[in-house]
Amino acid sequence: MAKTRIQFICQNCGATAARWAGKCDGCNQWNTLVEESPNSGIGATPGKAMRKGQAITLVSLSGDIEEAPRISTGIGELDRATGGGFVRGSALLVGGDPGIGKSTLLMQVSAALARKGHRVVYVSGEEAVAQIRLRAQRLDAVEPNIGLAAETSVENILATLANDQPPDLLIIDSIQTLWTEQADSAPGTVTQVRNSVQAIIRYAKKTGTVVVLVGHVTKDGQIAGPRVVEHMVDAVLYFEGEGGHHFRILRTVKNRFGPTDEIGVFEMSDKGLREVANPSELFLGERNVAAPGAAVFAGMEGTRPVLVEIQALVAPSSLGTPRRAVVGWDSARLSMVLAVLETHCGVRFGQHDVYLNVAGGYRISETAADMAVAAALVSSLVGAALPAESVYFGEVSLSGTSRPVAHTQHRLKEAQKLGFSGAVVPKGSLEKNSSAGLNVTEIGELAELVANIAALAPKPKETD
Ligand code: TYD
Ligand code: MG
Repeated sequence: MAKTRIQFICQNCGATAARWAGKCDGCNQWNTLVEESPNSGIGATPGKAMRKGQAITLVSLSGDIEEAPRISTGIGELDRATGGGFVRGSALLVGGDPGIGKSTLLMQVSAALARKGHRVVYVSGEEAVAQIRLRAQRLDAVEPNIGLAAETSVENILATLANDQPPDLLIIDSIQTLWTEQADSAPGTVTQVRNSVQAIIRYAKKTGTVVVLVGHVTKDGQIAGPRVVEHMVDAVLYFEGEGGHHFRILRTVKNRFGPTDEIGVFEMSDKGLREVANPSELFLGERNVAAPGAAVFAGMEGTRPVLVEIQALVAPSSLGTPRRAVVGWDSARLSMVLAVLETHCGVRFGQHDVYLNVAGGYRISETAADMAVAAALVSSLVGAALPAESVYFGEVSLSGTSRPVAHTQHRLKEAQKLGFSGAVVPKGSLEKNSSAGLNVTEIGELAELVANIAALAPKPKETD
């Protein structure tokens, strides 16, 4: 007789283990392993006769599409992040910290679509109907085409939807509040969330309704509940923002129907979220041009150039191991730039604390920021403000040379548009690009940049 095998499956990451353990080896989460029989699924049990399936008709790939595949919301920044609007029958997950504005954004999206004649159903498991109405009034989003419900049972939601024509957009405010009778664990648990989301996504695929799911984010910044939810949906968007700042960034981390490097920028006002079509102006808004240690980086977010200020503070340290603190950039990358400056340019940071900050709470992921970071660091160390009308970009290699980066033209154009007159770029950047009317300085070795900045430093007073 064949031995009956049992296995344990992690409810968080899906890893399997032969033996139960308190901690999953795959994702290091505690108490996530649950016993499941491997004998499930089609053909798993040879003894049992398989149900004879029904033949389905295959269709040609080149067939006509009846409806416009995308629904544009008319909110430019959202359409940009989703790659041109919602795709019919797709499921999106919007994650973000509590209070960041997810419900506000989705209420505004509902209103925008309703105004275009689409039918919207907004189901909230977190707020009462009166609360949602109150917010909608404040946001000027009261539209007759929006159906509202405060409900958490998936069975009830689906039964309600089955009563009527399927809506164009279905919003479920927080998957963590959903529960289904199919699973007997408590709402918010992995099994409940997974089963509930599965049922909702099945509905979306069947009817062509766009489903937007809201997901809470845990302390370490991941969407709570099973990671598998991220695999189940077609797109995952994160709504981010920094405490104390009014602007919010909608970042695409997964998109089956579009690019993943686009961001949408919004500003939270008393009338809800406002689109920010030109983020550079926002990020450069509070610039103090006379201060040493600030460099303007001409960056790219997807297809859009974004200018942002990088601030460095290099201060004498009394510590044996000086501090290195970074906000908004990669700390490993900062260590690399510091090492290159020390080794190839003779700049010493060993006795100094180094703080690096990207202004406005913005986050940079590009290596093209190397040059701007180096400029800001040296500027702070020597106490000389960089020319206010100049932008910086370019990658720095470990050998101390600079390397051209992509989209030189876009970066220069944006700088020119915002009133900058100079740019410091890697050597070779201009071969295929025009200077866009800027006074461009090409830097081959990083040491040249250091020498240029050092020449700006105030001369030490002569004492006799
Ligand atoms: P909310 O959408 O409830 O956040 P989430 O659903 O992500 O938890 O946003 C709540 C915050 O937004 C709250 O701190 C107040 C602020 N807010 C405004 O500043 N202006 C507005 O018009 C609205 C509706 C909210
Ligand atoms: Mg909410």
